[in-house]
Amino acid sequence: MTIRLGSITSVVASTPDAAREILQRNDEACSGRTVPDAVTGMATHDAAVLWISANEEWRTIRKALNSYLTHQHKLDTLCDLRQNVVEGMLDFLRESGRKKDLFLAGTETSSNTTEWAMTELLLNPDMFSRVREEVSTTIGKDGKIQETNILDLPYLHAVIKETMRLHLSVPLLAPHKTETEVKLGKYVVPKDTRILINAWSMARDPMYWENPLMFWPERFLGNELDYKGHHFEFIPFGSGRRMCPGIPLAHRVVSLMVASFVYHFEWKLPHTREEMDMNDIFGLTLLRATPLVATPIPLK
Ligand code: HEM
Repeated sequence: MTIRLGSITSVVASTPDAAREILQRNDEACSGRTVPDAVTGMATHDAAVLWISANEEWRTIRKALNSYLTHQHKLDTLCDLRQNVVEGMLDFLRESGRKKDLFLAGTETSSNTTEWAMTELLLNPDMFSRVREEVSTTIGKDGKIQETNILDLPYLHAVIKETMRLHLSVPLLAPHKTETEVKLGKYVVPKDTRILINAWSMARDPMYWENPLMFWPERFLGNELDYKGHHFEFIPFGSGRRMCPGIPLAHRVVSLMVASFVYHFEWKLPHTREEMDMNDIFGLTLLRATPLVATPIPLK
């Protein structure tokens, strides 16, 4: 679909086939970026790798990022630091024990995903118990959750994937731009056209998903469906050369936070499922419209 947003011609891809045509078959030609005015206003926008053109500088930064973010042993070296941060957060919750606006809305995609995962788990006690049971099988003598032990837990992973399917943090990915004239399907698209990939609509399209609006992590058990950019109906991190380089880190951080919140606390919601505001608000990222508020009850 082509639309004009103000003076900018934009192409919107809303099907997995269209997304594959753009991000896989014509990845290089579609790897530019258009920078929204809201971002241009920020003094540092041209320093952010998300917004720079796919040039030599970008290639160098991506190489460095890939080297740090995708090698498991490099991520392992900072494992203790992350565990300490999460431990500090748990201590804070144990000590205060009061109702807390725990997951303050920010632009941070990992915390937003954690907040949505907790929202769904608190609304689905059976799933909450199943995650806790699974996490408890990995607990060592020190009673602590080790990041490296929870990375391969199938149900926890399914819960996180399902959260990313139903509550995409970056619903239209970051806007791409054509670097040259390019043929997409049967259409010739001029250079400098903005491309929006509607990952949100693909992730809830009944053509590809059974009961698409239902939170049902079991759909991810026993199959290879993942978010690494090969299954185009499910691309919360994008695909191709501009795909998010932070997937392994995001997976670790979100897994550790969700596992810790579920294992160490009971939670009490101040309202019923019907009263819960399940809306989100859209900037570049999609956040809970009302931050999750729940009371942590420490377990002895
Ligand atoms: C749940 C967590 C996260 C989600 C859902 C997410 C999602 C995304 C998406 C959709 C894009 C744009 C892809 C495209 O335009 O095709 C992106 C880009 C990017 N992400 Fe993430 N991200 C997450 C966490 C992280 C983390 C933890 C890091 C770094 C440590 C990170 C670093 C980046 C960078 C540097 C880019 C720009 C890549 C480029 O333009 O070449 N992200 N992310």
